[in-house]
Amino acid sequence: MLKRLKISNGVNIPLCRPSFDGSELEEVRGVLASGWVAHGPKNKEFEKLLADFFGVKEVILLNSCASALEAALVGLGIRGEVIIPSFTMSATANAVVRAGATPVFCDVEWKTGNMDASLIEGLITKKTEVIMPVHFAGFPCDMDAIAAIAKKHNLYVIEDSAECIGGKWNGKFAGTFGSAGCFSFWATKNITTGEGGVIITNDHSFAERVRTFMSHGISRDTHERQKLERPWERDSVMAGVNYRMGDIPAAIGVAQMKKLSGLNAKRKKHAEYLNSSLNSLETEGLIELPREFPGAESVWQMYVIKVKPEVRDGLVLKLRENGISASVHFDPPVHLQTFYKKNFPVKSLPATEKLSKSVITLPLFPDLTESELDYIVGHVKLALA
Ligand SMILES: Cc1ncc(COP(=O)(O)O)c(C=O)c1O
Repeated sequence: MLKRLKISNGVNIPLCRPSFDGSELEEVRGVLASGWVAHGPKNKEFEKLLADFFGVKEVILLNSCASALEAALVGLGIRGEVIIPSFTMSATANAVVRAGATPVFCDVEWKTGNMDASLIEGLITKKTEVIMPVHFAGFPCDMDAIAAIAKKHNLYVIEDSAECIGGKWNGKFAGTFGSAGCFSFWATKNITTGEGGVIITNDHSFAERVRTFMSHGISRDTHERQKLERPWERDSVMAGVNYRMGDIPAAIGVAQMKKLSGLNAKRKKHAEYLNSSLNSLETEGLIELPREFPGAESVWQMYVIKVKPEVRDGLVLKLRENGISASVHFDPPVHLQTFYKKNFPVKSLPATEKLSKSVITLPLFPDLTESELDYIVGHVKLALA
């Protein structure tokens, strides 16, 4: 594919490019100069920024959102069934399996790609413990409906908010509706630390269990132990893991977090520009555009259009030939991937399966220029003409 990009008049529009300025470098310099590069004070600073933004009591930074999802399940002691969508990255399901629980796949809504709340109750059994919705591409799920079902059946809600930092459902932040919200700071996300993730919650004892699990099963981290009389003593109370974030990525996170609202606003502006420029194709029935709808405030982590399955692959390849790194999220869906087909077979998930053959992710990131946006629009129109 790289070869193809090279023959495209030198144009190369990536799917996503992180927005860095001098502030990330300044923050990292400070950490290097301090001499403390492991999990430490910069984590605390980034956690405080996140706590203030979301208005939550507990924030736990980790090395990825996959780790966050697994640690959240372990922190709640989940070993039963967890209802998740299949139209997601495999990390959602992998976390469930790694925690020792069982994924149960729920079909999604065609419009949003989000878990279809009207199908959840049909999947609840005596073993169900958690509903784990995914806010696809920055669009929040109908969290009022999901929270009501969880309450009725006494289930936990863990939100996989990897793709939705700052998105709101009915004015409330995605990630704040249940026991835990898990976010990703991977390279394509709305803010990035390279690799990274976070859990937000208001439950102090749950947060402490997560901190212990992700720090080798030791309840105090190295930095905190320095304040004790015998700082060399380490006591593992469980067979934990090391999922902590170091202070170098945390420093990048501090700089990025201060820019989150501005970066989200730029994504929204670009998405609106793409929507208005591609509108004529929608009128002609050649394409379906992503739109915000009552209740949902998106953060446009991805710009996902839908086309007829028979033209989808050709359009993605055509765009890539012309230097536009279009992609697909997600095909195949998780239940059709090797491990899940073998171990957790599902009859069929019609909306998920059709969606996965219809979606295309076009480049969307804050620093896209108007001429790059016009180039993308021009080539989508040309390819569908
Ligand atoms: C919905 C969803 N969940 C989980 C993840 C995993 O996040 P991470 O790469 O930070 O582990 C992703 C990743 O990109 C994702 O899109």
